[in-house]
Amino acid sequence: MALELIAHGAESKLYRDGSKLIKHRIKKSYRIKRLDERLRKYRNKREVKALRKAYNLIKVPKVLEVNDYKIIMDFIDGEVLRDVISDLSNEEFNSVCKKIGLYVKALHSKGLIHGDLTTSNMMLRGSELFFIDFGLSEVSSKVEAKAVDLHVLKEALNSKHYDIAERAWRIIRNAYGIIEVLKRLKVVESRGRKKLKI
Ligand SMILES: Nc1ncnc2c1ncn2[C@@H]1O[C@H](COP(=O)(O)OP(=O)(O)OP(=O)(O)O)[C@@H](O)[C@H]1O
Ligand SMILES: [Mg+2]
Repeated sequence: MALELIAHGAESKLYRDGSKLIKHRIKKSYRIKRLDERLRKYRNKREVKALRKAYNLIKVPKVLEVNDYKIIMDFIDGEVLRDVISDLSNEEFNSVCKKIGLYVKALHSKGLIHGDLTTSNMMLRGSELFFIDFGLSEVSSKVEAKAVDLHVLKEALNSKHYDIAERAWRIIRNAYGIIEVLKRLKVVESRGRKKLKI
């Protein structure tokens, strides 16, 4: 089967090859060549490491093959959550939001910070939820890092899904349930508000 370009992100081109997905981190010609190579290799490695670790905790595509600039993983034959979240039934919506909270909790409990938790980096295949795009992930057991991870998610909901954000957040927060991180989130948020006043 011929390769089919399915997405062209900021850093990479993504192709479908039958049941496989190829994520190829592409050259950025505005970067100095050696720096560009180092950065692409680094982000690729970081994503592979996180995907492999997360695979034992939540649903993520399985990594099949890797080289310096490419990851070959399972192709998820589904939809990006951003595109379908508003069309879900009440029951589906509640179940997806609960899963998001539980997935983030499972990652954080093992010190894995996703780094870019948005509905564009989540996919739905039937009732199965997958997290993707771990290129900005980090390993940290710090409460602050976890709170910032949640803050990114909450902001993404507010900006992309204003009408359902509050309802979604209530379910996600309850499922997540790590009290000290949720407390720190309030501090992170108040910091954000102070900055806005300046
Ligand atoms: N395993 C997969 N199976 C099916 N589709 C995928 C898979 N991984 C990524 N995609 C599709 O490719 C898009 C981009 O993937 P990803 O977010 O990993 O790349 P990216 O270069 O970081 O993109 P962006 O800069 O837009 O975030 C996703 O939104 C999704 O539509
Ligand atoms: Mg992405």
